[in-house]
Formats: sequence, structure tokens, C-alpha cells
Amino acid sequence: MRLNYPVVFPLNQLSFVGEDDSQFFCQIHGRRFNVLNDRYMLPSDEEEVRRSELQHRMLQFLFSGKNYVGPVDTLLSTPREDQSRPRVLDLGTGGGFWQVHILTLTRRRLDLADEFPGAEIIGVDLAPIQPRDVPANCTFELCDLDQWYLPYPTGHFEVVHARFMHTGVGNYARFLHEIARMLRPGGLVILIEPDTEPLADGKSASELRRTGQPSGMRGWFTLWEEYRQCLREKGIDVDVPPQLANLLASTGAFEQIVSQEGNIPIGFWPKDPVALSIGQLAWMNYDMMLPAMKPLLISAGKREWEAKKLIEEAHQDLYYPLVRASTRLHIVYAVKK
Ligand SMILES: C[S@@+](CC[C@H](N)C(=O)[O-])C[C@H]1O[C@@H](n2cnc3c(N)ncnc32)[C@H](O)[C@@H]1O
Repeated sequence: MRLNYPVVFPLNQLSFVGEDDSQFFCQIHGRRFNVLNDRYMLPSDEEEVRRSELQHRMLQFLFSGKNYVGPVDTLLSTPREDQSRPRVLDLGTGGGFWQVHILTLTRRRLDLADEFPGAEIIGVDLAPIQPRDVPANCTFELCDLDQWYLPYPTGHFEVVHARFMHTGVGNYARFLHEIARMLRPGGLVILIEPDTEPLADGKSASELRRTGQPSGMRGWFTLWEEYRQCLREKGIDVDVPPQLANLLASTGAFEQIVSQEGNIPIGFWPKDPVALSIGQLAWMNYDMMLPAMKPLLISAGKREWEAKKLIEEAHQDLYYPLVRASTRLHIVYAVKK
């Protein structure tokens, strides 16, 4: 565990990051990566930003067009006691889709920053992959969140949001303690993470093993097991997603913990039109995610041809599935005591 206090670089002050941000990136096995943290082993490039947008769209379908769960609107529409603006922190913000959505280079539709112009919204990530031209109430910062202390004051935020990013945090329990510290009493934490264990016809690999049934997606299941093993070797607890509510409860700092989970269809099998849209977006997301796993597999010791074969066989199952593929998504929110 690194104990040094992290440096935060405000991204929209170009004097800090600069037009040339190449020092914040490196190339690993053909993809661009962040240089701040080598535990997080998915790329930080344009393709990965496009993939995050698919996940963002998928969640909007899931939340019936909304951008969040829990009482975000109440918290952000109420001025603070000292009349300062309510504050939001998005941890592992990626392309910043949660707060700002760029439609084209010149035209922009704002998500959270637009809905709550009176709130101050900060997104923080390992890599400067966010838009630079953002509204005044929105800031992006660069920081490794995989640290004992996070560089924000105590009781500073009304809302802290972290989604699809647990694979970059080695000590998730400590991370939750820091979230609790940074929230003001009455503030809201929102955590959203998918399982890394796939499901075939609603059954996980361990359930299938117990009953001796074949998954019908051998290549798909094998790749995910390899991916989970690589994450474990990087010091990631792959069981964080189903444990989110328990982990939050064991901080002792939260109440009104709401935990929701659901099977996200992957592919074109759902009959219901909304579920079908979610399934299509999830399918496109995984179609892009499989090749993004290659650098991690090679870094973990697989030969290039082995990594390629694992990914090709998983892709084959994704394109020509014999069963209904899905994954479990965990959504948890809670109020700071
Ligand atoms: C799959 S993307 C999700 C992005 C965003 N949360 C969303 O839902 O669109 C994960 C992001 O988390 C960031 N991340 C992972 N580990 C991190 C860490 N230790 N510190 C800061 N950011 C991290 C990655 O750089 C990446 O941009």
C-alpha cells in the first residue's frame, strides 16, 4: 500500500496538464495506458472511452432515462448551510460521461452538470481522457485513488459516485472509509459494479460446476476465469461487486443502505424492448472489452498467441451464443450517518 499523499492535477487548467498530455500515457502491447497506476490494467484510450459511453447509455436505459439512483436531486437542489454550492465527486470518472456528455466537438449536451448548474462537480481519474472544454461548475482532476488517503477534505461532498472502477482499487474497504470521510453527514454514496463472473442461462460457473452442467459458452467462461485470475494476481478482490452492501455496512458510517442487483442481458435474446436495448448495448460493450483485456493477459504471462486464442474463442461465443448470456450488476447507495 502506497502511503504518499497524491498529487491532483486540475485538467481544465491547461497550465497543469498542457496541450501535450503524452507524459500521462504509455503504450503496453499495442494499447494506450495510464502511467499513475499499474494495477488498473484496462486501456486509457479513445476506444475505451467509446466503450464507457456504451456502459453509460446502458445504465440510462436501466434507470429509465435517469442518470443516477437515490436522492441526488434533493441533495443537490438544497443549498448548504453556509450557502456554498453542493459538491459532487465522481471517482474513476473515465470519459466523464456521468457529468458531461459531448455530442460533437462543438455542441454539447450536459448531463449532471447541466441538471444541477448550482452544484460543483469534480470527476477524478488516472488519465486525462475527459473533455477539456467543460462548463464552469465541472472540473476534472488526475489522481490515483488506490491510496490510503484521498486528497479531498473531510465532510466536503454531498454526493460521491464510483462506478465500473473497482478493478483499479486494491483495498476497497479502505476506499469506502475514505468515501465516508469525504462525505458530509446526510451525504450520499452511489456504487455500481458488475460481477466479473459470467452467467449462462442465469447460472454462474460455480453453480454449473456443482450440477455438472456444461455452460454452453466454454470460450466465454474460460476467458472470464483467466481475467479474474489476472485481477487476483494484481491484488484486486474480484468478489467486491456482490459484497458492496456488506462492505459499506462494515464501515459503520452509513445508514439507509439500499442494495439492488439485476441480471444484465448480453446479446439479442430478450423479448422485452427495453431489455433488448440493454442487451444490445451490453453486447457492444463486451465486444470492445474482450480485445482490451489482451495487454493484461500478456502482462500476466500469457504468450501473445495464447491471449489471442482466449479472446477469439470468447468472441466466438459472444457472436454465436448457444445459451442466454448475462452478467449480474450491483447497485448500492447509502446515506452517511
Ligand atoms: C471502465 S472505466 C468507467 C468510467 C466511468 N466511471 C463510467 O462509468 O463511465 C473505469 C475508469 O476508472 C478509472 N480508475 C480505475 N482505477 C482508478 C484509480 N485507482 N484511480 C483513479 N481512477 C481509476 C480508470 O482510469 C477508468 O477511466
